[in-house]
Amino acid sequence: MNLQGRVVLITGASEGIGAACARELAGRGAKLVLLARSEKVAEVARETGGEAVRGDVTLAEARQEFVDRAVQVHQRVDVLVNNAGVGIYGPSHRASMAEMRAMFEVNLFAALEMVQLVAPVMKQQRDGMIVNISSIAGLVPLPWFTMYSAAKYAVMAMTDGQRMELAGYNVRTMAVCPGYVRTRFQDNVLSGRPPERLWRNRRFAITAEECAQATARGIEKESRTVVTPGVGRVLVAARALAPRVVDHFLRKIYADLDIA
Ligand SMILES: NC(=O)c1ccc[n+]([C@@H]2O[C@H](COP(=O)([O-])OP(=O)(O)OC[C@H]3O[C@@H](n4cnc5c(N)ncnc54)[C@H](OP(=O)(O)O)[C@@H]3O)[C@@H](O)[C@H]2O)c1
Repeated sequence: MNLQGRVVLITGASEGIGAACARELAGRGAKLVLLARSEKVAEVARETGGEAVRGDVTLAEARQEFVDRAVQVHQRVDVLVNNAGVGIYGPSHRASMAEMRAMFEVNLFAALEMVQLVAPVMKQQRDGMIVNISSIAGLVPLPWFTMYSAAKYAVMAMTDGQRMELAGYNVRTMAVCPGYVRTRFQDNVLSGRPPERLWRNRRFAITAEECAQATARGIEKESRTVVTPGVGRVLVAARALAPRVVDHFLRKIYADLDIA
């Protein structure tokens, strides 16, 4: 899809990967409508010539206002980027269920509810693309955030299933699976902290801008799945070939978690 003049909605666009996607896609000619809770989203909108809606993606009124704004201003929706997301670190077998449900609300159900709002518009246009920012944790279960992985696995299944559901209407779907990206994600988690070894290896993380460039290229190529950085595919392939070996390696990292 050529992004020039396309109307793109991005959730969670006040900072991190969402804000970087806004800048990257605006640079490629897209017209943006952005959603996030904090007022920083208005700054990103000003900078990128887009519209900002302040609201919580888990709330029906905010989602409706977001999509209504796009349709009122631009009369169409070409791309939805479901980016808003939040993590929880720590053992799932004794986690707070309230926090787990809150994490699933943002990472999975809000993304589905956004699709339910834009799908009728895209079906009528007979054109559109749904982009879900998943994670490498949606391709390999990472034990330091097992249920975050579970949510992202669900996002992967939703992306693949909806591709088949909507193919007849020329609506495409794509999942983006970043590895470690240098954003404030770790500070914004609902609870917990990553294992020490991952924290130390933060210097190997890619930037939000690199992630946004990979996402933009994926939209232009209409890819099904983007893994960024590409080396993440080695981990995915290794787990498919030798799951016990990879699990052993991941367990050693998990053992670094500072938990009683
Ligand atoms: N960073 C990584 O290493 C990494 C790796 C793989 C995948 N991901 C995924 O990439 C996506 C973006 O992560 P990030 O690293 O950019 O995180 P981030 O820096 O913490 O940014 C998260 C964004 O989501 C928004 N957001 C969170 N909850 C929201 C809600 N309820 N309603 C509306 N907006 C909400 C935040 O804005 P407000 O606080 O202003 O609402 C913010 O703009 C997430 O889906 C994450 O799971 C990240």
